[in-house]
Amino acid sequence: MKSFNGMKRWYLFQLVKILMCSYVFLQLTILIFKIISHLEVNITVFNFCDAFFTIRHYPNLYHQLMLSVLCSICIMSVIIFIYLSSSYHPDRTILGDAHFASAWEAKKAGFFDKEGIIVGKFYGSPIVSGGFEHVLTFAPAGSGKTTAIAIPNLLTWRESCVVNDPKFELFNITSGYRKTAFQNDVFLWAPTKINTHRYNPLQFISTNKHKRIGEIQLIAHTIIPNGQGEPIWYQSARELFLALILYLIDSDEVATLPNVYVISKRHRFNEWFTDLVENTTHLDPEFYRNASSYLNTAEKTRASILKTFTGYLEMFANPVINAAVSDSDFDLRELRKKKITIYIGFSENEKEMISPLLTIFWQQLISFMTQDMPTPKTEPYAVLCLMEEFSILGRLVNLKSSLKILRGYRVRVLIIIQYLAQVLEHYSKAEAEAFKNIKTKVVFALDSLEDAEYVSKLLGMRTKRVTQRSQSVGSNNSSSSHSHHLQAVPLMRPEEIQRLKSNDAIVIRTGHAPVKAKQYRWYRSSDLKKLPCGMVSVPKQNPMIIPFEKNQDESNSSNSIQKTIHDLETEKMKIQAEFLSGAVLNALHNEE
Ligand SMILES: Nc1ncnc2c1ncn2[C@@H]1O[C@H](COP(=O)(O)OP(=O)(O)O)[C@@H](O)[C@H]1O
Ligand SMILES: [Mg+2]
Repeated sequence: MKSFNGMKRWYLFQLVKILMCSYVFLQLTILIFKIISHLEVNITVFNFCDAFFTIRHYPNLYHQLMLSVLCSICIMSVIIFIYLSSSYHPDRTILGDAHFASAWEAKKAGFFDKEGIIVGKFYGSPIVSGGFEHVLTFAPAGSGKTTAIAIPNLLTWRESCVVNDPKFELFNITSGYRKTAFQNDVFLWAPTKINTHRYNPLQFISTNKHKRIGEIQLIAHTIIPNGQGEPIWYQSARELFLALILYLIDSDEVATLPNVYVISKRHRFNEWFTDLVENTTHLDPEFYRNASSYLNTAEKTRASILKTFTGYLEMFANPVINAAVSDSDFDLRELRKKKITIYIGFSENEKEMISPLLTIFWQQLISFMTQDMPTPKTEPYAVLCLMEEFSILGRLVNLKSSLKILRGYRVRVLIIIQYLAQVLEHYSKAEAEAFKNIKTKVVFALDSLEDAEYVSKLLGMRTKRVTQRSQSVGSNNSSSSHSHHLQAVPLMRPEEIQRLKSNDAIVIRTGHAPVKAKQYRWYRSSDLKKLPCGMVSVPKQNPMIIPFEKNQDESNSSNSIQKTIHDLETEKMKIQAEFLSGAVLNALHNEE
């Protein structure tokens, strides 16, 4: 950050003001003195001291000079008094005292602190939202959210960080610097790219049998949310999902989401599933309960449930995505133990498809972060969650409910969206309040009138003195009169917020006067633009094409049928042998 901070700049600004006043005062004194004394000597501000020491030896001139000083003081006092009384009228706050913060107020509100999320620039210095407060930024596309908020924070936040990275812009510009300057282990999880680190959400499911059901159900709700039709189909599909995940975790198979897809699409799935339920006993009781609930339905219903189920998992038909979720190269539970930066990269046209995966990622992250209170000794690092394109994530129920407590767990959240209504896409109006109530908000010139009206209301009302002029025209003469009254007007009207300059930012922090700041664009800042130093290398994955094991299935099922036939034959032979031995014994008995 800049060494010459905003407060020093403010002091300098005040000093310049005082110097300018002194200059005017001296000029005025010299002018009055020249008028009174009728002297025609060349006295200026710069030789005033010399002139003063000379004049001191002439009592008459000296008195005239003192009189000039007195007059000058009087005139300056009147000017200052008029200026102050016009701006500090006692009634000026009666209908509202909203105003933008001065440098003093910004300092008192902690905006010039060294630690925090960078929100803009004030008096030439970066200002931050400190104290582990979260930040909500909303501004239209192309207004500077990435370049003035996301990138400056990634180039200055030294500890762990998890970043949504649409367009890979943030990774390209900041990853190299975060690795070399901040010694972070840097990962890029880009599920739709071959060059990616891997993350398998199922690997992070708790081994605790009491906890894991809830965790799997949360994943099930994210992948298979309720859709347009009857909720029963989605609920049944989620039951099937729970059963299959429990099977994968407790069996020898690798628990990955692509494997769930592969199993559900296997040849003669229902036969295999029935066989599994009937011929095993060691799996989780919830497996048997949910599997039986599926198998007990009519054949047609079963087909519909399976179709719904596989429909939601179709992204795992993609070998590139499968490779990206087949294993984990990083551990979300270590974010506070080590300095780790994880970029979640995706491009514009793929974001809808992988949105459930990203939601699961963030859900697991928030759950891990709020599981146990971190101890400074074992978990010394704070975590910044930078959620660009927050709206592409589905419902993060645990984020909404834990926003208030996250600061206690040393987690800061920076949410970036284009307009407030985007929050309503996944949350009800009441739920969205949790996000709107984030203490620090940053806005640039807004497009949405609704948002502009909301911000205008947040900024509050100020008292304005309005002069009304009325004119009456009589038969002989006309007269005009002036009347003054106070009126409550918004500090900024919605249209003024929509017309903010492209470099302006408004920072609103609950409990403090808002700050009319400048954007801190990294490519214009002499401090920041020299920092980026390339990007870190990312391993190349082999796309995972999973073979369709029809023959094996058939041989498996024919094996099991043959086994059954073999068993029956053995049984038959046993019965025959028993029967024969019985008959032989009877015959022997009869002979006796
Ligand atoms: N390195 C750069 N040099 C100059 N202009 C840039 C640079 N990066 C981005 N811009 C410009 O800054 C503006 C804001 O970009 P950006 O921060 O990405 O907007 P947003 O994230 O709000 O969509 C865009 O008009 C873009 O053209
Ligand atoms: Mg952007």
